[in-house]
Amino acid sequence: MTALTLRGISKRFGAVNALTDIDLDVAGGEVVAIVGDNGAGKSTLVKVLSGVHPPDSGTISFDGVPVTVPNPAAAISLGIATVFQDLALCENLDVVANLFLGHELVRPRLDEVAMEVRAWGLLGELSARIPSVRTPIAALSGGQRQTVAIARSLLGDPRIIILDEPTAALGVAQTAEVLDLIERLRERGLGVIMISHNMDDVRAVADRIVVLRLGRNNGDFPADASTETIVSAITGADDNAVTRRARRRKEADHV
Ligand SMILES: Nc1ncnc2c1ncn2[C@@H]1O[C@H](COP(=O)(O)OP(=O)(O)O)[C@@H](O)[C@H]1O
Ligand SMILES: [Mg+2]
Repeated sequence: MTALTLRGISKRFGAVNALTDIDLDVAGGEVVAIVGDNGAGKSTLVKVLSGVHPPDSGTISFDGVPVTVPNPAAAISLGIATVFQDLALCENLDVVANLFLGHELVRPRLDEVAMEVRAWGLLGELSARIPSVRTPIAALSGGQRQTVAIARSLLGDPRIIILDEPTAALGVAQTAEVLDLIERLRERGLGVIMISHNMDDVRAVADRIVVLRLGRNNGDFPADASTETIVSAITGADDNAVTRRARRRKEADHV
């Protein structure tokens, strides 16, 4: 069942059309990769969905009901969680403190024990390999940090989770760990939107691959589409072929 539906989403920054007429569907239990060259509009799309930049036009629907996402709090209450590329973790604080930053369990005092138990529970569900929830973030690997940031976003019980370049700057083993984690999110029934530059990572976990080019939809492919097909949609290498085919059809019609 489709959870999130975008139709005709456009966003301009002055003279720049960052997004033009974007359509997107994401169902629960589905991993949709969004790929595209620099400037394709990926980050802008993430920001529209996370309430950072409201779109100029178009509709966003949840379970078929049109919604607005005027600010980040609205995105979270709709059940759209975003893990931004910078992760926004506090290096000097431990895992528990980072998970609950800003929404600590207080009843009536700060309930450290309850937070620690919840933290272990959540990381356990994600099969995360974190040595201790009392480890400061600074001592964790990039993959472990990504895991903590994802775990934190799950505390709000989202239905859609957006991951912006979750494997950028990770080594092979850590990338595998994060890709496993993404599969676990899918198993939990979440709709996952994964922004990535890395075709291997995309192929490893995505159910569908959506290509953006120059702020527009430029293909929606099954995970087993050939790399050449996807790369040419990303780079526009097939643009001329498409134009040529259209011209030939037109000419044929006139004969
Ligand atoms: N805040 C902004 N102000 C002006 N232009 C922006 C802003 N954010 C993005 N853009 C422009 O919108 C286009 C799409 O950018 P972006 O969404 O960052 O692409 P991607 O993440 O795919 O590299 C680019 O031309 C970029 O320069
Ligand atoms: Mg970007």
